[in-house]
Amino acid sequence: MATAIPSATEQITYTDLYTRWEAGNWSAMAIDFTQDRIDWHERLTDEQRRGMLWFFTLFFHGEDAVADNLSPYIDAAPLEEQKYFLTTQQVDESRHSVFFNRFMHEVVGVGDGSAGGGLAATESQLTWGHRMLFGRLDQMADELRRDRSKLQLAKAVTMYHILIEASVAQPGQHLIEDALERLDILPGFREGMRHVAMDEQRHIAFGVRLLADLHAEDPEPIREAILETMTECAVWGIGLAMPPDMDRRYTESWGFTIEEIIAEAARSNEAKLRAIGLPIDEMAHLPWDPATTCEERGRRAVAMYEAGYIGPRAGKAARDEYSMTLLFDEVARSANTDVLPAGSTIQWSFADATPWYVELNNGSTAARSGRAPEPTLTLDMRFDDWVDVIAGRADARKLLLQRKLKPSGDLRTLVKLPKLFG
Ligand SMILES: [Fe+2]
Ligand SMILES: [Fe+2]
Repeated sequence: MATAIPSATEQITYTDLYTRWEAGNWSAMAIDFTQDRIDWHERLTDEQRRGMLWFFTLFFHGEDAVADNLSPYIDAAPLEEQKYFLTTQQVDESRHSVFFNRFMHEVVGVGDGSAGGGLAATESQLTWGHRMLFGRLDQMADELRRDRSKLQLAKAVTMYHILIEASVAQPGQHLIEDALERLDILPGFREGMRHVAMDEQRHIAFGVRLLADLHAEDPEPIREAILETMTECAVWGIGLAMPPDMDRRYTESWGFTIEEIIAEAARSNEAKLRAIGLPIDEMAHLPWDPATTCEERGRRAVAMYEAGYIGPRAGKAARDEYSMTLLFDEVARSANTDVLPAGSTIQWSFADATPWYVELNNGSTAARSGRAPEPTLTLDMRFDDWVDVIAGRADARKLLLQRKLKPSGDLRTLVKLPKLFG
């Protein structure tokens, strides 16, 4: 059954977006970096230089990756006007990459001036989330090359335009622009970033309009495709903003906290999903808790990362009460209660941490520390192994075969766990 496109989104036309591209053309080669060189070497502290180099590198490599990966989108877009716009976007992404490379070479003094040289010289700055997210974008482009269906296009545009551009890049650009404005430094870089941000606004508007069109045509499967992609990729988006060794000086030395980045990302993401026309107030299993503010989502995401519950394996996972509550609240929240009868209880009996259980009830599924009086299923395992399963670093079936996960109670419930927790 077809559904309506939100009226503000309906006013964005592909032809208007193309016209705005013609009017907004700019030159990355013409930007004057004379004052930027002075500011970079004379007005910044070592800590600020280190932080900015890391943060700008995420953008430089991101721009290069999106420029490389857009061509299958042009082939898969159903309308000529969409194809024309996407070719303008590909030019933009190349221009953005040229801009960042010029800054790296002419201001920071890294690389040999070539794009390949600049990328190679900054590659070591990339952190886990960036590698994971953009590795998946490469894969997504290959999937779209093989399958040009509207469903596959919806997944690819969700990842590219909604997750990477709207939820990761755009909030970062705004925080950079505000911080550099406050510090009154790097005028050439700021001028370039203003153009980049205007371009990205068009790209995102295109992605929203295209998904709104696809969603209006065929709501259920497109909604599923968007949510599935968001859920799969969200942790990498969070991980991307986490600085090396979780050293907060990487951003705080020049203007903002990592919690602020995630809060902005959450706000932008939610706004775009609404603009597509998704009825998110009525939807179950969103990748975030709709009962929390964006600020709270930012705090929780960073705390989960610091606790070792998402991201790369980094020693022992945190097992204090606050962290474990965050983890099990998320486990309870994301449980698909249609899979098991109401009242079913899953007990975790950890060899190396406090036991927890989740009681499933449609609408009031809750996680509690301690032991349930009559659990439906008990999982005996190490807490760190469970965290690895949650973080996607370990396969629960393998743990079962290795006897590192010992189930007891109703084994039919065990079979349903993958469906229960996705
Ligand atoms: Fe870009
Ligand atoms: Fe873009």
